[in-house]
Amino acid sequence: MQENIIKSVRGFEVLDSRGNPTVAAEVTLCDGSTGFAISPSGASTGMFEAHEKRDGGERYGGKGVKQCVDAVNGEIAKGIIDLNTLNQRKIDEFLIKLDGTENKSRLGANAILAVSLAAAKVAANYYKMPLYRYLGGINATDLPRPMLNILNGGAHAKNNIDIQEFMIIPYTAKTFCEGLRQCTEIYHTLGKILKDMGKTTGVGDEGGFAPDLESDEKAIEVIVEAIKKAGYTTEQIKIALDVASSEWYKDGEYLLPKRNLKMSGDELIAYIKQLTDRYPIISVEDGVAEDDWQSWKKLTKELGDRVQLVGDDLFVTNTERLKKGIEEKCGNAILVKLNQIGTLTETLDVVRLAQQNGYKAVISHRSGESEDTTIADLAVALNAGQIKTGAPCRSDRTAKYNRLLVIERELN
Ligand code: PGA
Ligand code: ZN
Repeated sequence: MQENIIKSVRGFEVLDSRGNPTVAAEVTLCDGSTGFAISPSGASTGMFEAHEKRDGGERYGGKGVKQCVDAVNGEIAKGIIDLNTLNQRKIDEFLIKLDGTENKSRLGANAILAVSLAAAKVAANYYKMPLYRYLGGINATDLPRPMLNILNGGAHAKNNIDIQEFMIIPYTAKTFCEGLRQCTEIYHTLGKILKDMGKTTGVGDEGGFAPDLESDEKAIEVIVEAIKKAGYTTEQIKIALDVASSEWYKDGEYLLPKRNLKMSGDELIAYIKQLTDRYPIISVEDGVAEDDWQSWKKLTKELGDRVQLVGDDLFVTNTERLKKGIEEKCGNAILVKLNQIGTLTETLDVVRLAQQNGYKAVISHRSGESEDTTIADLAVALNAGQIKTGAPCRSDRTAKYNRLLVIERELN
């Protein structure tokens, strides 16, 4: 029997970083090579994402994934055993067809993605290659610049901050390692500043601090203070926001739930513009909502020539939605989350489409993560240039940074 043929597929119910069940899959080849992958899970999920299937009922408060695991062990295994693991596209097309729905709701994108990624990993292991090399070939050379989360709000923290993520970018660092060090020093300095202010230094889902502060602007101000106190300038370190404003959008209006502030699309755009004028912000994600295309167009017209405008809930790693965005000139970058679409092949396709059209691609974790480090390799494989994978805190986040440190060493 050919050695690179899939011999077995096994599914597991494991835990993510929030202690919720998630799907893991292991693919084994005839030569004995194995690949193992774990699906992540979002909290502020976009309405156009592929479906994350949960069992409902009593177990784990309804969040169990036994049905997904059964599907992996049953019909998915049955279908992909005997396929050649080197043909990722064929495996993923099979999974999409087997599911048969528009949004992968029958088998669950969480089941499908775990298998899709495990298949890629076993292929890399078969060749005894690191994953980034298998996926990117000799062209995989660039370490991404991190967008490192240091303060959490919105759906990721139980504080009074409405903006979901405040991130720092080591803008002038020469290496990944140096940039990570700078940002980590700033993270710890921010912790000290918050402690001195008498604020909590408890962290949110992505490891950033989650204090109550008098305003969202104040959050940016303490971050700028931390940058300076740690010995850096705002020329060296820039700021990125994930507004995650789809969470605020209802009936054509935005309601910032924690501060109970109401804004129209135009007012929100003016607010974002004002923030980018006042502070060293170079990237804004989901500044306006996932189905507010009109506001996206305006925001892009207003700020697109000087600020990176990242579509997360807007594009949901989906080629069709990105095509529409490109046509309508909405945003200039896409956030890439594998589980928003559910297979590796579709993810590679959307990144190619973005890169061909001058859109930047930011490879991203989810707020619910695990020890799986696929996205670190993916960022290098695609020379994406940017990765968003949380704070230098919580092993689910540092696992990706640590993987990138190893890759940087290998490449040098
Ligand atoms: P999520 O958040 O994983 O909870 O969706 C991440 C993001 O919005 O970028
Ligand atoms: Zn987002």
